[in-house]
Amino acid sequence: MNFDALKPKVVEILIRFDISRDQKLQQLCQLLHDNVDYYNWVGFYFANHEAQTLHLGPYVGAETDHTVIPFGKGICGQVAVSNKNFVVPDVAAQDNYIACSFTVKSEIVVPLFVNGVNIGQIDIDSHVLDPFTKKDEKFLEFVNEEVAKLF
Ligand code: SME
Repeated sequence: MNFDALKPKVVEILIRFDISRDQKLQQLCQLLHDNVDYYNWVGFYFANHEAQTLHLGPYVGAETDHTVIPFGKGICGQVAVSNKNFVVPDVAAQDNYIACSFTVKSEIVVPLFVNGVNIGQIDIDSHVLDPFTKKDEKFLEFVNEEVAKLF
């Protein structure tokens, strides 16, 4: 499914009133995972600004040991500090990278802002080399703008 077709489905999940915020995020991860063939792991991390750590939230894909990531560590930790999208076409070329699985070839992380504060991020891993374009960035920014309304 293309991103324009997915957008209303994202909103449909997030405006439901009969399920919790975590359930919505879980369904959102499932939607993206199931409908974009190169999205092989989709999850959210949330920041604890006092402890300077990221904490794994709802996700779909292989189980990960990286449930807590210090700010600055890995792609996710760097986005917690930079407040900027991070597209990694080839994870093998990254020094500051936390490997979850040998099957992962590329990654995109887009920060989640609530009232201008970076409260977390959406993280997507792919088994494909260099699959992410500006369209993924724009789409995931849209997703996070909608998610921000839940906070
Ligand atoms: N690869 C990430 C760690 C999280 S996993 O992808 C789920 C990183 O380098 O921050």
